[in-house]
Amino acid sequence: MFIDIARSRHSCRSYTEAPLSDEQVRLIMEAGELAPSSRDLHPVRLIPVSDIPTIRRLAGCKDHGAEPLRGATFAVVVAADEGKADTWLEDASIASIMMQLEAEDLGIGSCWIQIHLRSLGDRPAEDVVREIMGLEDGTRVLSVISFGRKA
Ligand SMILES: Cc1cc2nc3c(=O)[nH]c(=O)nc-3n(C[C@H](O)[C@H](O)[C@H](O)COP(=O)(O)O)c2cc1C
Repeated sequence: MFIDIARSRHSCRSYTEAPLSDEQVRLIMEAGELAPSSRDLHPVRLIPVSDIPTIRRLAGCKDHGAEPLRGATFAVVVAADEGKADTWLEDASIASIMMQLEAEDLGIGSCWIQIHLRSLGDRPAEDVVREIMGLEDGTRVLSVISFGRKA
């Protein structure tokens, strides 16, 4: 039952080195893509990151709280086109939790790493993530979701 997934989900910040299977990655991405959006505008762009050096770079994108990305074997950058919908923040939030709930259903650990409103020194963390990921200036970044097999 869905309530069992909601009850058992907790942020998981420690992962084993074993990667997720392709099918697990596919299902997590599909769950995020299925998220509803205001006026069905879909401003959210979910960017999968399997490259470990890139995930480790993302771990240094803000002053505190990105530590789960030091051990994650998969991550999704939750970005959005602000010009497409003024509800990008809400739409991106829904996509984030949809992926986390799918991960829990698969027995995979995850943690929401907040990027929007956070900083690295006096630099917005969104700028740092945009630089690491090569995203255009207008692209907003709500979060990075870390994933991995629960340690
Ligand atoms: C909007 C939001 C931002 C969060 N940002 C972070 C973060 O940057 N780093 C982190 O380790 N956890 C982060 N979390 C996870 C929360 O700390 C966690 O969900 C909360 O403490 C409740 O614990 P639980 O997820 O185990 O139920 C965030 C969660 C939400 C919903």
